[in-house]
Amino acid sequence: MDLRDAIRTIPDYPKPGILFRDITTLLGDARAFRRSVDQLVAPWAGGKIDKIAGIEARGFILGGAVAHQLSSGFVPIRKKGKLPHTTVRIAYSLEYGLDEMEMHEDAVAAGERVILVDDLIATGGTATAAVQLLRQMGAEVVAACFVIDLPDLGGADKLRALGVDVRTLVS
Ligand code: PRP
Ligand code: HPA
Repeated sequence: MDLRDAIRTIPDYPKPGILFRDITTLLGDARAFRRSVDQLVAPWAGGKIDKIAGIEARGFILGGAVAHQLSSGFVPIRKKGKLPHTTVRIAYSLEYGLDEMEMHEDAVAAGERVILVDDLIATGGTATAAVQLLRQMGAEVVAACFVIDLPDLGGADKLRALGVDVRTLVS
């Protein structure tokens, strides 16, 4: 089974010129969803991972499943204004705009081994900001894992240049 076949491509969403890789079709396909989670988990099976950090919104779906499989905790990294307790916040740029993300200041303890999970890496702006937040809190970012890499946008290489172990399932 090729996971690419389960991913739908929508031209000109959310803006003209963007080819949007839509994982809702992959999530709705039981075999493709399971295969994706199994492949994201495989390198870490049996190892000690304290927390999975998932990036809103699609990183919550995959990250929650990965956390369950690895018996790890789950930490949501959210768009600003959504978390109720004291947060740490960082601004970042997207392929199609600017935003801010935050996490609870006590979500990760210093020295905890954390894996970042999201559906896709494009320019890497989102994931880079998430890694910066996690490191700021003293976490050890063991890896950053994505179902989809858009290599032409250079995000995975940018993240690797920061010393992050980047794993992706399809390009
Ligand atoms: C998408 C995607 C990643 C990010 C990748 O999320 O799920 O989080 O963009 O882009 P980048 O590598 O260029 O930073 P989006 O910001 O669209 O948010 P959503 O999941 O809440 O729709
Ligand atoms: N799909 C989903 N999220 C994205 C994309 C995409 O093609 N590009 C940037 N974020």
